[in-house]
Amino acid sequence: MNAIQTHQLTRSFGNLKAVDRLTLEIPRGTVFGFLGPNGSGKTTTIRLLLGLLDADDGSAQVLGFDTRKQPDEVRVRCGALLEHHGLYERLSAAENLDYYGRIWRMSKADREKRIRELLEPLDLYERRGEPIGRWSRGMKQKLAVARALMHRPELIFLDEPTAGLDPVASSALREDLASLVAQEGMTIFLTTHNLAEAEKLCNQVGVINHGNLLAVGSPSELRSKTSAPRLYVTGQGITSQILEDVKSNALVKRVQQQNGKLVMDLNDLSRSHEIVTKLVGAGVQIDEVWKEKADLEDVFLQLVEEEKGEAE
Ligand SMILES: Nc1ncnc2c1ncn2[C@@H]1O[C@H](COP(=O)(O)OP(=O)(O)OP(=O)(O)O)[C@@H](O)[C@H]1O
Ligand SMILES: [Mg+2]
Repeated sequence: MNAIQTHQLTRSFGNLKAVDRLTLEIPRGTVFGFLGPNGSGKTTTIRLLLGLLDADDGSAQVLGFDTRKQPDEVRVRCGALLEHHGLYERLSAAENLDYYGRIWRMSKADREKRIRELLEPLDLYERRGEPIGRWSRGMKQKLAVARALMHRPELIFLDEPTAGLDPVASSALREDLASLVAQEGMTIFLTTHNLAEAEKLCNQVGVINHGNLLAVGSPSELRSKTSAPRLYVTGQGITSQILEDVKSNALVKRVQQQNGKLVMDLNDLSRSHEIVTKLVGAGVQIDEVWKEKADLEDVFLQLVEEEKGEAE
């Protein structure tokens, strides 16, 4: 069964379509990364999926429940870390979690067990008695993730979980998240601007802009779908005639010459040796040859650029 399924989900604010006919299927156990520029509709989508906001049109099922008709069923089964972490600064870490656990009617013994289970892997268990007011941002963020997981949700929404953290803290939080997911086997829906993060954590990625879903797939599918694989060659004797010959080769989509380096977008990277053989035959003295696939950042920028082009 899908953890999340939406059909033509739409929500406007005045004239602005914040989410525009979004159709999405996310199987259980997926770590789904929702990528998009500022104001593209990511948080609005989460609010729609949690039943915190009504759709104008279309429908959404979360864990099999209709978000419009059964929002309470959805909310008891989901955890969420939205833009504000919602922790009480004057309470200790353990008190924060305990308070939350009581809202979910967990027994005292279960609350204690769960607090230990969550805080130990996050390296916060020893500090559970401290009021969190003076904790660092990264520590609070970890605690906020723990809070969202407290009642053992089947699905968790994390809206920019690593925003504002330094690279070391965000990498640590990513590792913690990855091990918690592996341990608990839950579904995660997270938003991020950090493409490297999506690449590391997520097995499925969706790209959204202006409320439109531009692409969905695994990071590697998106890379190969969107961007041509690249071949780089450096060497001596790359004349303008040779450049012209390369340009007219059917394998080559695009050629650029950058600082004495040939950069070629190929249709099929597995046939790159044909190009190299031709260059050698034409008298090029090759220093280095290497291949590179586009990273998610290239893909993302390309999709957003294409969408801009279409909208104009
Ligand atoms: N309650 C609201 N009232 C009016 N407009 C809203 C409201 N909530 C969101 N919007 C608008 O909807 C659009 C999408 O906003 P949303 O918060 O979903 O973007 P986002 O992708 O989460 O952006 P960010 O990356 O900056 O968090 C924006 O143009 C925003 O101004
Ligand atoms: Mg947002």
